[in-house]
Amino acid sequence: MSIRTLDDLLAEGVSGRRVLVRADLNVPLDKQTGAISDDGRIRAVLPTLGALVEAGAKVVVCSHLGRPKGAPDPQFSLRPVAGRLGELLGAPVHFATDTVGDSARSTVADLADGQVALLENLRFNAGETSKDEAERGAFADQLAAFGDAYVDDAFGAVHRKHASVFDVPARLPHVAGRLVLREVEVLSKLTGEPERPYVVVLGGSKVSDKLAVIEALLPTVDRLLIGGGMCFTFLKAQGLEVGTSLLEKDMVETCRNLLERSGGKILLPVDVVVADAFAPDAAHDTVRVDGIPSHRLGLDVGPETVAGFTAALSQAKTIFWNGPMGVFEMPAFAAGTRGIAEAITKADAFSVVGGGDSAAAVRALGLDESSFGHISTGGGASLEYLEGKALPGIAALEN
Ligand code: 3PG
Ligand code: MG
Repeated sequence: MSIRTLDDLLAEGVSGRRVLVRADLNVPLDKQTGAISDDGRIRAVLPTLGALVEAGAKVVVCSHLGRPKGAPDPQFSLRPVAGRLGELLGAPVHFATDTVGDSARSTVADLADGQVALLENLRFNAGETSKDEAERGAFADQLAAFGDAYVDDAFGAVHRKHASVFDVPARLPHVAGRLVLREVEVLSKLTGEPERPYVVVLGGSKVSDKLAVIEALLPTVDRLLIGGGMCFTFLKAQGLEVGTSLLEKDMVETCRNLLERSGGKILLPVDVVVADAFAPDAAHDTVRVDGIPSHRLGLDVGPETVAGFTAALSQAKTIFWNGPMGVFEMPAFAAGTRGIAEAITKADAFSVVGGGDSAAAVRALGLDESSFGHISTGGGASLEYLEGKALPGIAALEN
C-alpha cells in the first residue's frame, strides 16, 4: 500500500495553500450542560493541525458530531468544539455556521496564512452519509472546493463510506495525517504477528455490534474475555437466567455456537453486580452468575471475575481492550472497568485500548494514559480494522 503522508505534503510546501482536514471531533457531550466531557479526540488531531499552522497553511477543518439526520440540529453543533480547539491551539478558530453555505464560503475566503477554520457539522447535510453516489458526490464537490489538498486525520471515521471520508480524497491531492498513520501503524501490529499470549477483552452493551470481530478474532487470540452488557447474552447461552439484564434474545443461539467453537478461549464472568434498577443509587449486590434474581439486572462484573480476568491479563504479551465492563459512568458500577483497566496497565504487555468509550473510561477513571501502549481514537474503526475489513477512508488514501 502506498499512502502519501502529511510529511510529503509539508515537503511540497503548503504556505498560503488551503488544506482541508477531515478530523473526528465527535466528542462526548454532557447530557445536562452540553459541555465537552472528554476532549481526547480534539487533542489527538493537534499534531497534524499544529504542523499545518506552523507551515503557514490556511487550515479548513471539517468533522461530524453525533448522528443528526442530514439537517441542522443545534444539539449537535460543533461550535463548542471550535472554542475548545482554539484554546488548545492557542489561537482562535474561525467557526462557520454552515458546512458548505455562505458562512463556510466567506469564512474560508477570509482565512489568513496559518489560521484555522472549523466548518459546522458535516452531517447537517444529507449528502455526507447518503448511499446515493451522486448525492454524496455533489456534496463532496462543494467540500473539495474549500481545499487545494486534503488530509485525512479522522481515524474514528475511516470505516464510514461518507462524502468527507471517501469521495473528497478522489477530488483532491490527498494524504494521511499523523493520527491516522499512528493508528494504522499500531493496529497493524495486532493483525500481523502479535507477541503471545494475545488476550482480547471485549465489553460494551451489544453482542450484535461485536459479533464480526469476535468471529474474526477467535482463530487469532489466545484468550477472549467478555464482560459488559453483552456478557448476559452469552450467560443465557450457557443456560443461565439473567433476570432483567440486557439480553439480545435473537443472538443467544449465535453465542451458544461461538462458545462451542471457541475451544475454551472465551472466558465469561463468574460473578456480577446486580441492581434493582438502572440508576446510580439503586440497591445492589454481588451474586454468582447462576444466582441472578429474576427481578434484578446486572450492571457490572464482580470482583471474582476481575480476579480471573486479571490472572489471564497478567500472562499476556499483547492486549487489545474494547468496551467497558459495566456502567462505569455510575460509581457503584465502575469497579469492574477500573479493575480490568488497572490489570492491563500492570501487565508486561503491549496494550491497545480501542474505542471512544473505553478511551473515555480510561480518562474518566483518572487512569494514567501513558501506562497503555496506545489509546485508539476509533471504536468501530479499530474493530473493523481488526476484522480485516477494507476501510473506505484508508482505501481512498491508497493510490
Ligand atoms: C465514533 O464515535 O465511533 C466515530 O466518530 C464514528 O461515529 P459514527 O459511529 O456515528 O459514524
Ligand atoms: Mg461509533
